Amino acid sequence: MKKKYNVAVVGATGAVGNEMIRILEERKFPVNRIKLLASDRSAGSTLSFKKKAVKVEVLTEDSFEDIDVGLFSAGGSVSKKFAPIAAKAGCIVIDNTSAFRMEPDIPLVVPEVNPHAIAQYKNRNIIANPNCSTIQMVVVLKPLHDEYVIKRVVVSTYQAVSGTGKLAIDELMNQTKSLFNFQKIECNVYPHQIAFNCLPHIDVFLDNGYTKEEIKMIDETKKIMEDDSIKVTATTVRVPVFSCHSESINIETKKEIAPEKARDILAGSPGVVVIDDPGKERYPLAVTATGKNETFVGRIRKDESVKNGLNMWVVADNLRKGAALNAVQIAEVLVSRYL
Ligand code: A2P
Repeated sequence: MKKKYNVAVVGATGAVGNEMIRILEERKFPVNRIKLLASDRSAGSTLSFKKKAVKVEVLTEDSFEDIDVGLFSAGGSVSKKFAPIAAKAGCIVIDNTSAFRMEPDIPLVVPEVNPHAIAQYKNRNIIANPNCSTIQMVVVLKPLHDEYVIKRVVVSTYQAVSGTGKLAIDELMNQTKSLFNFQKIECNVYPHQIAFNCLPHIDVFLDNGYTKEEIKMIDETKKIMEDDSIKVTATTVRVPVFSCHSESINIETKKEIAPEKARDILAGSPGVVVIDDPGKERYPLAVTATGKNETFVGRIRKDESVKNGLNMWVVADNLRKGAALNAVQIAEVLVSRYL
């Protein structure tokens, strides 16, 4: 009989946690028992898994004694404290926060790009799930890098509020309602109004003027692609969209890159769907990528300002490929190849 695993979802009541539960169900991950963990604010509540009500438990140091795989998505401070405790108890942690991503002995994995890195889970029993914007970018960059050798990447993002969590989803909804009713708006999650606005500010600002989100995209891309020579620069922007991150990506390559050939390569790459027929007004859109597992790419065209350049528009569901799906895909490779 196929082996089944005891799985914990840490942050189960959150936007990503909820999606993790749905994706474990959808992809028929071999779950023996599921443990749903959150803060004491959620004590006593229930969530559904495979049509059965499961009680949400409060996360404690003893939560992981009988757990094989833990999917963490309750914020960096929770992961910093509880991931090593879980790992010590024998649970393999797949961590969706930035807590461990850049530690050299912790693998940072996108299964379509560097599945072999999962083998390093043995170092500390922790595997890091990359930043949402990085994941959808590297899924598209890797096949082009293999063929043309990417020298430089310039990316600007248009990121959905669901990436900030459930309180941010409520904030966009409430501000929109208030503005339509000529009422004052409340800003609790973001420093400025997010409804009908764009905020060039995701995560905290650093001394060099970049935000931490931008540095995550730069550093994580090099680590996942296993190539420090790729130059990356990023501007990350929060937009009033509930679901899906969109990205304008410009690349410069060593070898000459033809848009038609790039389109063919991407169309045959795992996890990528090309939608690129501008004459018929067909290109990737946040509203149509919502709920989908693939990364969508379109507007593929030559950058005529440089020798070997290409522009693209890349869209993916940030809660799925950008977070929960990628984590479950890592778990699938882990159990099928290593456990
Ligand atoms: P809770 O709902 O009990 O607050 P989001 O990213 O959508 O805001 O969700 C964050 C998730 O992380 C929620 O499930 C939240 O639980 C959980 N969480 C936040 N802080 C803690 C904590 N200290 N211990 C356990 N879970 C936490």
